[in-house]
Amino acid sequence: MTKGGQNISLVWDKPPPEPKWKDILEGAMAVAGIAASGYLIYVMWKQREISSSLSERIQDQVIGSIDSAKKDLAARLKRPELATMTLTPHEAKIISDVVSADDLQTSFEDIGGMDEELEQVRDNVILPFQMWKYLEGEAGSVSPCPTGVLIYGRPGTGKTLTARAIAKEVNATFISIKASTLLDKWLGESDKLVVALFSLGRKLAPAIIFIDEIDSLLKKRQNSGDSPGMHSMQGALLSEWDGLRTSHNAPVLVLGATNRPMDIDSAFLRRMPLTVKTQAPNQKGREEILKKLLSKEKVDPSLSLSVIAEKTPNYTGSDLRELVRVAAIQRVKAIVNESKAQAPKLNVNGEKIIQTPQKGDFFNMRSINLSDFEFALTKTKCTGAVADDYTSELIQEEMLSKQAIADSVSNFFYNLAKKPTKDDDEDDDHQVVPDVE
Ligand SMILES: Nc1ncnc2c1ncn2[C@@H]1O[C@H](COP(=O)(O)OP(=O)(O)OP(=O)(O)O)[C@@H](O)[C@H]1O
Ligand SMILES: [Mg+2]
Repeated sequence: MTKGGQNISLVWDKPPPEPKWKDILEGAMAVAGIAASGYLIYVMWKQREISSSLSERIQDQVIGSIDSAKKDLAARLKRPELATMTLTPHEAKIISDVVSADDLQTSFEDIGGMDEELEQVRDNVILPFQMWKYLEGEAGSVSPCPTGVLIYGRPGTGKTLTARAIAKEVNATFISIKASTLLDKWLGESDKLVVALFSLGRKLAPAIIFIDEIDSLLKKRQNSGDSPGMHSMQGALLSEWDGLRTSHNAPVLVLGATNRPMDIDSAFLRRMPLTVKTQAPNQKGREEILKKLLSKEKVDPSLSLSVIAEKTPNYTGSDLRELVRVAAIQRVKAIVNESKAQAPKLNVNGEKIIQTPQKGDFFNMRSINLSDFEFALTKTKCTGAVADDYTSELIQEEMLSKQAIADSVSNFFYNLAKKPTKDDDEDDDHQVVPDVE
């Protein structure tokens, strides 16, 4: 380089600085970090937006389904005012178990052999339920309507039938729920369902809350093996039950049915002071039940129902229903067999067509007769008899097999004792040959 004719050479005091790769790397990493966190924040924000719109949509769906459940219920119960009532999601869960009294097909007319029990129900449940509006205040401070009734008895003796008939007779909304529906596996859910059941009952009053298999819900509480959920659900049930105020409000009745009343805690038994026992009917009861079961059937006039009743000791109402079913189906079988027995027709190709009965063949079926019942009696048994027969069959088989083992063991020892030993052989060798003269 030239300056004023002089040659100047540039001389660095220090060597030019080396690029600091470490700093560059650190800077780049910082920028990348900022970008990543920015992206993360953006993703999270987007996620939140999506999930909130999703939860809004779910909420809309829940509200929508509750609304349609309410409308459906209002239509079923023919009570338009119910379409605008408020309903919790737990109450909505129970709505499918609500039945209108108009839709119940069973009445006291269909129940046979329970005259005394039905009389008791008429006086203590039907009458106060039908008259509650007039009796309130007039009958003093004691509410005329019971809040708990227990129907108990052997399987198939008409507990469910009676409960449905009671709801029909009092013209009440019938909430029929199985104990298992209330026993939700999630902790706290059962309590909420119980609260919802009672609050729904109050909203739909006059109502009957029918809990089938109620023993599994109300079992004795000293049992340490029970889950804490069960204890808390039972607590909720007790307080809801006590909160059923019938005065000034339409009545709500809890109707329980069980085969095992002995398993129910006394705290609950106390809340069901009115009990109805269903039992296997006596001969007169069986005849009555048969008459009810056959009331809409064509029956041969010579058929004596008292004879059938005599031949069916220990049969429950449910066993008799099965007997009638098997007897009635014999007429159908006869029609099918008749048409099978006809000479086969030929189709256009000359192939044989097996005859099958037509709808019209069943229009005028013959009446049910004694031989149908005699056949049915050979095919049906009273409840428990099948299990009893099978148990005795197993016991007999076990005894026979034990006998067979004992026989084979004794045969073995007998043969062992009989088998000639070596000594015997030797003895045989030295048999004393009698002198032959
Ligand atoms: N007393 C009765 N009169 C007329 N029919 C009866 C009677 N008892 C039972 N039945 C017939 O038996 C069927 C079954 O009865 P139901 O379901 O009421 O018995 P249940 O006692 O509730 O039995 P489970 O303990 O098994 O629940 C009824 O639908 C009905 O057809
Ligand atoms: Mg039942």
